[in-house]
Amino acid sequence: MQQPIRLAPSILSADFAQLGAEVRAIDEAGADYIHVDVMDGHFVPNITIGPAVVRALRAHSQKIFDVHLMISPIDPYVAAFADAGADIITVHPEAGPHVHRTLQLIRSLGKKAGIAINPGTPVEAVDPLLADVDLVLVMSVNPGFGGQSFISGALEKIAALRARIDRIVAGTPRRIDLQVDGGINQQTARLVRKAGADVLVAGTAGFAGGPANYAENLRRLREL
Ligand code: DX5
Ligand code: ZN
Repeated sequence: MQQPIRLAPSILSADFAQLGAEVRAIDEAGADYIHVDVMDGHFVPNITIGPAVVRALRAHSQKIFDVHLMISPIDPYVAAFADAGADIITVHPEAGPHVHRTLQLIRSLGKKAGIAINPGTPVEAVDPLLADVDLVLVMSVNPGFGGQSFISGALEKIAALRARIDRIVAGTPRRIDLQVDGGINQQTARLVRKAGADVLVAGTAGFAGGPANYAENLRRLREL
């Protein structure tokens, strides 16, 4: 069953020169999760932040730290992100040959495990993994940069995954959140909610205009 909406602003669109203050501001503005985009210049064509920054930011918010790893290899770095204070660690099956092992590793460290699928990856890729995840992330842009346009093919995938997740959790106490990431604004937020998403990542739309606007930015994304 679709869950109440949660917003996960991506600090990729925050002012990197004052990340601590930015995380406090977006937390106070009503963020549910703090989404951290980790990029390595190898799996994706951009380089962002590593575990030391996650650790430093941890003191600035009690919200759920939702760490999206766009790196390859993954396994050698999972423990560092867990130790730095990540609550959810999401990985891409396209990034390595043994994604099931990676998910087990994340859970063995007491963290929630997420699986992300790129625009070019079919939803069937996560079927064998649904028993082992707490979150499924549908990428609605190709990962690497903020500020890209929403790829509408994501809507069908969200709907398909909504049905799969509902089938798997039915009659159990389990919950698997369905998250969408990329090109979320007031218009696309409405579409992805309708398709069945629970958690909306928003970089550009969350951090537009600086701290004075954050509460209003998030309010608009929640309003349907
Ligand atoms: C893309 C990242 C996204 C991105 C979203 O690789 O995973 O989280 O920052 O940014 P917007 O909301 O600007 O598309
Ligand atoms: Zn992301």
